[in-house]
Amino acid sequence: MTTHTTARRGWARRAAALLATAGLAATTALALAAPAHAGTTLGQSAAERGRYFGAAIAAGRMSDSTYLGIFNREFNSVTAENEMKWDATEPNQGQFSYANGDRIVNHAISRGMKVRGHALLWHAQQPGWAQNMSGQSLRNAAINHVTRVATYYRGKIHSWDVVNEAFADDGRGSRRDSNLQRTGTDWIEAAFRAARAADPGAKLCYNDYNTDSINAKSTGVYNMVRDFKARGVPIDCVGFQSHFGTTIPSDYRANLQRFADLGVDVQITELDIEQGSNQANAYRQVVEACLAVSRCTGITVWGIRDTDSWRGGANPLLFDGSGNKKAAYTATLNALNAGNNNGGGDNGGSTSIDTNAWYVLVNRSSGKALDVYNLSTADGADIVQWSRNNGNQQQWQFVASGNGNYRVKSRLSGKVLDVYAKSTANGGEVVQWPDLNGTNQQWAVAISNGYATLRNVNSGKVLEVQGGSAADGANVVQYDGWNGSNQQWQLVRVG
Ligand code: XIL
Repeated sequence: MTTHTTARRGWARRAAALLATAGLAATTALALAAPAHAGTTLGQSAAERGRYFGAAIAAGRMSDSTYLGIFNREFNSVTAENEMKWDATEPNQGQFSYANGDRIVNHAISRGMKVRGHALLWHAQQPGWAQNMSGQSLRNAAINHVTRVATYYRGKIHSWDVVNEAFADDGRGSRRDSNLQRTGTDWIEAAFRAARAADPGAKLCYNDYNTDSINAKSTGVYNMVRDFKARGVPIDCVGFQSHFGTTIPSDYRANLQRFADLGVDVQITELDIEQGSNQANAYRQVVEACLAVSRCTGITVWGIRDTDSWRGGANPLLFDGSGNKKAAYTATLNALNAGNNNGGGDNGGSTSIDTNAWYVLVNRSSGKALDVYNLSTADGADIVQWSRNNGNQQQWQFVASGNGNYRVKSRLSGKVLDVYAKSTANGGEVVQWPDLNGTNQQWAVAISNGYATLRNVNSGKVLEVQGGSAADGANVVQYDGWNGSNQQWQLVRVG
């Protein structure tokens, strides 16, 4: 791709570059147009099927190059194994500590990965000061925690585990006794309402273990979710931890499906399966179950190598202690590749447009964000893609022009996306320009499966990353729409 030496490159040079890349663009178009095909990594294959494939990682291990190398190569979502829990983020009441969480979150976002936030409220891993509290003061402290942490991470989190493990293992589907439960049974809905207010763009999940099959505990959760949906308590997803022994429950898929049928997404959030002769087969069964449920949006394994696992001795993960792929890895990748691309679909992108919101537009092909090059506020400044950092030069607001058409306004400059000089050509340059509500500044926005296509009203061509480039600084232009992944944009609400 053209290198940027100035914010606004010369038109003659641009035209020459476009001619030079026209053939490339057409070739890439064919490659990108292919339906779900065999991916070579877990994240890539899952993405082909509208899902994510994530791992829990520990900030303290990120300096281990084998560990980080596997993570970067294989996964497109992350959960902080411990760094975003209450004891880590609010070690003293009212004093918040985000350094370790930030290491994980910022690393993931800069690489176009999703982040599962884990966990806002839980009976375990509470800071000592909270363990010693009760009643209204604990309730207030808990809700304040939810608000503060969800506000801090607003715009960066795909899904939050708002509440973790609030049901008991008593065979009756009761709530677990805890200091939080003793503040009143409505503590869970209060937490979900506070989380929604703090980060309206994040999916809000309830997460638990031993809820993977249809049993008294999962039915307790099911009844709570059904009640929340009936009463309008904000809940979007249910997480199934899926810490398994050597076998998978025979009704696993049916259980996921009954939750999905309540109108929530389901996610497999902490998968690990004890080593044994059935391990690879069991991983395959988990992948097949998720792919069979259209609202199962992703899978997260709880660690990278067996030696990283919290389940010492169980060797329950996909990579051995040396970082080699195990048979379980191959079975998992093969099961992903064998699956169809029905469903998933929820990639965290907004499914409708709120004209009061600010969005980062993340390209489906590259995972990079629509960006005003070099933080320019000048008329004619170039629009490119860049690694996502949520800066003002990557934030955009939709301004209604009527008939479902919008201008797309930069938070940095206040200027709007504009097809330069009203070009109607393939490769026509997209720049920023003062808002004149011109037809070359209006885009028809269509959102499907969580991805938006922006079609210019003047030219009829769509906004794309030229040539499907993955590079920082790659040019954003208009081109004939062919539903390429480089023409699809996730709208991630950040404000
Ligand atoms: C575990 C971590 O993996 C350990 O490092 C930590 O000592 C304890 O917590 N359910 C959850 C996770 O929701 O947060 C737990 O993680 C595993 C069980």
